[in-house]
Amino acid sequence: SQRPYVIDEMISAKSIAARIEALARDIQEEFAGTNKLVVVGLLRGSFVFIADLVRELDLPVEVDFLEASSYGDGMESSREVRILKDLRGQIEGRDVLVVEDIVDTGHTLSHVSQFLLSRLPARLRTIALLDKPARREVDFKADWIGFEIPDEFVVGYGIDFAQRNRNLPFIGKVRFTDV
Ligand code: PRP
Ligand code: MN
Ligand code: MG
Repeated sequence: SQRPYVIDEMISAKSIAARIEALARDIQEEFAGTNKLVVVGLLRGSFVFIADLVRELDLPVEVDFLEASSYGDGMESSREVRILKDLRGQIEGRDVLVVEDIVDTGHTLSHVSQFLLSRLPARLRTIALLDKPARREVDFKADWIGFEIPDEFVVGYGIDFAQRNRNLPFIGKVRFTDV
């Protein structure tokens, strides 16, 4: 972006870590006894969250990735979701956990869920670190949510603004300084 901005911390790295520990316990309970959990990260935004989440899971897991069409460098949802990179592995008859950084309009995760359900997994569950219910355009709710947040433009912990700031260890909100 050409516009100048600063980033204000919204959710600290410590709060994120504590929340992930609690989420991991819930997920372990849900999938207790499974020997075939596939954890699917949606590229690119989920890469930090999935890395931290799987390391808290005391379950046998496989990790796979899928990429859906992106907002690109813009701030608006395209609404029409396409699969740009498919899974490497099979999920039929397996337990699947789809990991997302944020649910905004809901188009991405609802489309990806339908797409994966058509392959007849044994169970499909979804988790998103952040949920912005105020922005929802389709009726979708992840099975687990880390934090519900207001309608702010957030970055960090995997989430970008024009491909920048994914490497921040916390969730911050963008504040434009030219207004
Ligand atoms: C962002 C975010 C979610 C999606 C949420 O991804 O990471 O995947 O948008 O928006 P929605 O609920 O309105 O569909 P983006 O398309 O920017 O790609 P990225 O993960 O590579 O940044
Ligand atoms: Mn994404
Ligand atoms: Mg993005």
